[in-house]
Amino acid sequence: MADNTWNRRHIISLEDFTPNDYQTILQTAASFREVLSRRTKKVPALQGQVITNLFFEPSTRTRSSFELAAKRLSADILNFSPGSSSLKKGETILDTAKTYLAMGTNLMVIRHQQAGVPTIIAQEMDRINSGVGVLNAGDGQHAHPSQALLDLFTICHNFNPANPHIDQLQGKKVVIVGDILHSRVARSNIWSLTTCGAEVHLVAPPTLLPKHFLEAFKQPIRQDNEATAPTERKLYLHWQLEPALENADFVMALRLQHERMSQHLLPSLREYHQQFGITRERLQLCKPTVKIMHPGPTNRGVELTSDLMDDPELSLVPMQVTSGVATRMALLYLIGGVK
Ligand code: CP
Repeated sequence: MADNTWNRRHIISLEDFTPNDYQTILQTAASFREVLSRRTKKVPALQGQVITNLFFEPSTRTRSSFELAAKRLSADILNFSPGSSSLKKGETILDTAKTYLAMGTNLMVIRHQQAGVPTIIAQEMDRINSGVGVLNAGDGQHAHPSQALLDLFTICHNFNPANPHIDQLQGKKVVIVGDILHSRVARSNIWSLTTCGAEVHLVAPPTLLPKHFLEAFKQPIRQDNEATAPTERKLYLHWQLEPALENADFVMALRLQHERMSQHLLPSLREYHQQFGITRERLQLCKPTVKIMHPGPTNRGVELTSDLMDDPELSLVPMQVTSGVATRMALLYLIGGVK
């Protein structure tokens, strides 16, 4: 399972990931998914290493699946909770990180409500030559790379469970609907899906998807072979749901945050559902094989109807959560192997 080409010590954003990086992650995650199907679901890959979960913001899925991934790799895991920590006594975030470094931490998984915190910690870990790898588990509105990577794995696994490959995304239409402007999940998915050859269609009311949003994604796709010219990303904006859904292969709904109403970005959740909610009727516009996705947590009956979320023929939502463990095992394994 060793991958000698992987040389990223940190995973902060997917902006500069190449097709080869994504394929390495898919292949490694597929191997770990096979491990997780065995009777003994544990490998000694990171035995003796210490992984610290530094979650400064609430999480159910990401935190628990990183913890389980670390345990399945036989690492020791430390879980930091801000409410019961010395942050309350005025200790800084950097001093908190250095405290865990002094206990022998090898990898840090960091979530923070403010964009940039994982970057600052990674820079400090490099500056002091700690050898520690940092994985961004979601920072403000910036990035949520492990979510986008598990989404990529889920989509490719849906086509070929034995051999998920990025080529399966070529020409596929993925619709992302919801609060795009404030979503770190949307940003990370746009980088990964467009780099792997999918057409990504973004849909939201204009207040949650301004025209200038595309400017951030002008950077062409960097190919692994330097001789191959970079290519443009296939990324489109829509302010109405129905035209975007036509012939879609995947529809990814995003969580709507309730504070958007108090910020006057949305009239009401009911009106949002009427215009942008995913319903069985609207899915008729998509390909017959369409699948729906949601990173969670979900507002049932707002982003999508409750029955759709629980429909095993249509919904990949439980599969996203399951894929999260194998994908995060792959990420910990890959960055844990960088010397
Ligand atoms: N999708 C996601 O990041 O969920 P949590 O906030 O529960 O980790």
